[in-house]
Amino acid sequence: MKSKIREVKRIIKLTVATAPDFSYLYPRMETIAEILLQWYARHGRDLPWRRTRDPYRIWLSEIILQQTRVAQGMDYYLRFTERFPDVAALAEASEDEVLKLWQGLGYYSRARNLHAAARQIVEEFRGRFPREVQQVRLLRGVGDYTAAAICSAAYDTPCAVVDGNVYRVLSRLFDLAEPIDTTAGKRLFAELAQSQIDPAQAGRYNQAIMDFGALQCTPAAPRCEDCPFVARCLAAAAGTVAQRPVKQGRTQVRDRWFSYLHVTCGDKVLLRRREKKDIWQGLYEFPMIETATAAELPQLLAHETFQTLLSDTPWHLRQSVALPRHQLSHQRIHAVIHRIETERLTPAALSLAIPASTLGDYAIPRLLDRYLLDAGTDGKSAQ
Ligand code: ADE
Repeated sequence: MKSKIREVKRIIKLTVATAPDFSYLYPRMETIAEILLQWYARHGRDLPWRRTRDPYRIWLSEIILQQTRVAQGMDYYLRFTERFPDVAALAEASEDEVLKLWQGLGYYSRARNLHAAARQIVEEFRGRFPREVQQVRLLRGVGDYTAAAICSAAYDTPCAVVDGNVYRVLSRLFDLAEPIDTTAGKRLFAELAQSQIDPAQAGRYNQAIMDFGALQCTPAAPRCEDCPFVARCLAAAAGTVAQRPVKQGRTQVRDRWFSYLHVTCGDKVLLRRREKKDIWQGLYEFPMIETATAAELPQLLAHETFQTLLSDTPWHLRQSVALPRHQLSHQRIHAVIHRIETERLTPAALSLAIPASTLGDYAIPRLLDRYLLDAGTDGKSAQ
């Protein structure tokens, strides 16, 4: 049996060695990476974080862009790099200041992690941004995607990024019906993405595939008519572009009902920090009562929060405002704000009282910011 295998191998060697090579007669087929890089040279976006090799700035841009479009994130990137030009400056800031600068961008855990990671870099990496993917991966808020994006862009480490754009582009090019939100699917796409990267230009390649997904191979109305892969795209050939990528499960959206007490007493207003591990952790808000369904006023009056803050002082309900429904990725917030004036502050209320004119100094959720702007009580025009 062994000698048989040896014989087959000998024949293969002979065949390969003696087979005529006709490849010079055919134009070589361009690789996917080559086509993407050519496309990128013509259509890629000129973005500030692509003009630097500073891993700190690249990291900052990647965290900002994790759930944010370039158009919205740009302003924040410029603000952050101006206020915190290096990792030491970010590490020295207070969490409140970082959250305030982040206000309006949403997904605030990104800002808290960013700040914690800056301190990690100072304490564990002696202030130098780590170089190895495995070390970068240890930073708070940095997953596989972000570590690959940072290291490829800053150091040309040959690690393929896999984000929503990459799932879309590859699932269409190869017409893959494998769901992208299962463990097996994620592994398959990670391997496929890694097999396509140009190791000599990893940074450019990753930026190219991201831009290709963002500008050409878009989720809705992809520009197939002028796509450089028009003759190669298996989904285009099969007519399945609109069905790629495939997702298995829809995440459940949870409804939550928040009743805010916007309590004022003269030029004071009550504000508290959200400390619990929940949405908006670290941000400030009016005292709030959460209920399982829409709350009626008597239910609120009987609630402990209401009782401790207002019970034995005269108070007047001036207005109740139902805010527009606020949609987060997995939650729908139904908020009502009760504007209450009181003549005195209970000890509990006193501990939360701040001058209304300083409201603008605090990082607050966007739905409250909008309410304050509408009501003309954003701290700039004190009530
Ligand atoms: N989204 C995430 N990272 C990005 C990058 N580096 N450029 C453009 N969009 C992105």
